[in-house]
Amino acid sequence: MEKILITGVNGMLGKELAKQLLEKNFFVIGTSRGECRTVYNSEKFKYYEVDITDDFQLHDVLFDERAEVVIHAAAMTQADECELNEDKCWNVNQHGTVHALVCAEMYSSFIIYISTDFVFDGKKGMYSEEDECRPVNWYGRCKLEGESVIKDAEIPWAIVRTCLVYGEKTPGGRDNIITWADGKLSKGEKIKVVDDQVRTPTYIGDLAMGIISIIEKRATGIYHLSGKDVLTPYQMVKAVASYKGYDESLIERVTADTFTQPAERPAKTGFVIDKAMNELNYNPISFEEGIKKVLG
Ligand SMILES: NC(=O)c1ccc[n+]([C@@H]2O[C@H](COP(=O)([O-])OP(=O)(O)OC[C@H]3O[C@@H](n4cnc5c(N)ncnc54)[C@H](OP(=O)(O)O)[C@@H]3O)[C@@H](O)[C@H]2O)c1
Repeated sequence: MEKILITGVNGMLGKELAKQLLEKNFFVIGTSRGECRTVYNSEKFKYYEVDITDDFQLHDVLFDERAEVVIHAAAMTQADECELNEDKCWNVNQHGTVHALVCAEMYSSFIIYISTDFVFDGKKGMYSEEDECRPVNWYGRCKLEGESVIKDAEIPWAIVRTCLVYGEKTPGGRDNIITWADGKLSKGEKIKVVDDQVRTPTYIGDLAMGIISIIEKRATGIYHLSGKDVLTPYQMVKAVASYKGYDESLIERVTADTFTQPAERPAKTGFVIDKAMNELNYNPISFEEGIKKVLG
């Protein structure tokens, strides 16, 4: 039974990955900051508290557990928080990735690093794996530095870039675009939503499935894993309202310059996912189907 170690297992992606890996009979070593918030009643799941910025914690776990594959999903993920805390962000997202890689090189045979559409500047949109990266904020810069670290690996590696991930809200978990819109509109609250940004929103279940396919095939290199529908946040929220029958006049269509946020956002991202579809049999659900899964 193959052992997979996940960093950031308490996070949105980590939880879903652990769930799907256990369903597929892998043995999962979950690591994250603090107490385990990913509770799976399985003999094939073990949790260790690991701060990825610590010099020794991950090493000690891998020394004991010798997982064949490391999925490095732990990260500081909120762009504004990263912009306001540059050193902390660098430490977690760049330095933490060095730690993950050094340990994986000692005890594992494959590493997967989770990256982001924020490595792009958002001028062109619909990016493929070969497009030039030019981040516009500190989060994106640090994640891109993490990619550079991984590309120098002495073991086979894959980098998975994903985009605006959504899924069912888990206990203690963060909101995403669908659960946020549903929460506000169900209470009759007015919301302002931007219509001049473009994304290809990604269902968490598809993302985890794509990553597991990379493990099974030992596929190396960069993969873009996102949904296939190209939408603005305004269109996404309208779709939520229409599905739930909420009053659509509560949704005000605005442009990004309405908000002053510490971190600039790339305007148009979204991914071409042909490589993943051809090589990994990746076939994501539509955003409409995603809404049904999350709110249905
Ligand atoms: N969600 C998206 O829309 C999206 C889009 C593009 C790329 N990504 C990438 O996907 C990956 C997973 O993101 P996610 O959505 O699952 O984010 P998330 O829910 O914020 O999960 C990240 C996890 O990393 C943990 N973490 C933070 N600092 C750590 C540290 N020093 N040591 C150990 N663990 C630490 C967090 O711990 P706490 O729970 O204690 O905070 C959290 O559990 C990230 O690499 C992110 O950059 C996500």
